[in-house]
Amino acid sequence: MSQIYASFKSIGAYVPEKVLSNADLEKMVDTTDEWIVKRTGISERRIAAEDEYTSDMAAKACELAIERSGVAKEDIDLVVCATVTPDYFNMPSTACLISDKLGIRDVQAFDISAACSGFVYLLSVAKAFVESGMKKNVLVVGAEKFSSIVDYTDRGTCILFGDGAGAAMICATTNKEEAFVDLHASADGSYADFLVTPAPGCVNPVSQRVIDEGLQYVQMKGNETFKLAVKTLTKDVKEILEKNEINSDDIPHFIPHQANYRIIKAVGDSLKMKEEQVVLTVGKYGNTSAASIPMAINDIWESGRLKEGELMLLDTFGGGLTWASALLPFAGKSK
Ligand code: ACO
Repeated sequence: MSQIYASFKSIGAYVPEKVLSNADLEKMVDTTDEWIVKRTGISERRIAAEDEYTSDMAAKACELAIERSGVAKEDIDLVVCATVTPDYFNMPSTACLISDKLGIRDVQAFDISAACSGFVYLLSVAKAFVESGMKKNVLVVGAEKFSSIVDYTDRGTCILFGDGAGAAMICATTNKEEAFVDLHASADGSYADFLVTPAPGCVNPVSQRVIDEGLQYVQMKGNETFKLAVKTLTKDVKEILEKNEINSDDIPHFIPHQANYRIIKAVGDSLKMKEEQVVLTVGKYGNTSAASIPMAINDIWESGRLKEGELMLLDTFGGGLTWASALLPFAGKSK
């Protein structure tokens, strides 16, 4: 029997209509457009409507990914969602709600929580299911309504995050040329307090104290996270390239997590990447956590830059702390 591999067949994304610009934030907190652009590279981000939820954005991204893959909805046998801003914190999972919105019934569906690393973590889940022969067509989606956990009086965090969703179809193939080359995912819980939403959870169940202290909002040790992100991302990417004997010159698309332009630049420079190799969307979308990488892949696919068979290098870092990198060809059709 021939070997089965996982392949990245298609991409789709959705961004909400409302734009929150740096000029808007200047009216909300003590900050300036100049500070935000210089320190982060972000000019604007998208914010979902009040009644537009993570599952709604995810379903829209999924519809595009499904259509572009040519896979019939009836042939999808697993739906997995990465999010830290689920529609409901405990149950039902956002993946269940997405499946229902897509009309996909009677298939396994579940969420994972790995913050900004969520999408690459999902690729490892999809790869394992496909290559073990358990599933054939896995719909993976990273989606966040991050604005729902941001304190818009905290200038240290509110300038960074945005909302959106990105989805991909991961399909079984016997063609080795289409297969994921390598994937590495890891975590270190000793840094859990670098990025945390203290409530709701069993440590801080919903109470008046939670509301009074604003524990439902994301808290971040920005500067410490920044330094660790640069170090970890650089090491992780160097390792995956060395292990697979690939030179950074041979990567047409380096697609890092879009958290901060300075982090991306530092990692890109240490790998001697040229500007045209590095995908940048942070300026217009900010940090959309688990949605950031698939949104960036969608951006280059829609603009015609990502072609069939081209190699992508993904690299991400987020709360947990978690990090992950992946080397894989785009196995779908060029636009
Ligand atoms: N406007 C103006 N001044 C500000 C702002 C702002 N929006 N935010 C902070 N400052 C001030 C600080 O108060 C501080 O002032 P002080 O020197 O008087 O105390 C000064 O600017 C410097 O603050 P730092 O926090 O040291 O600034 P830094 O250069 O580190 O930039 C930032 C902050 C943008 C948050 C950066 O640290 C960062 O991007 N961190 C990493 C974020 C990240 O990658 N997260 C991981 C993924 S997220 C996830 O997993 C969900």
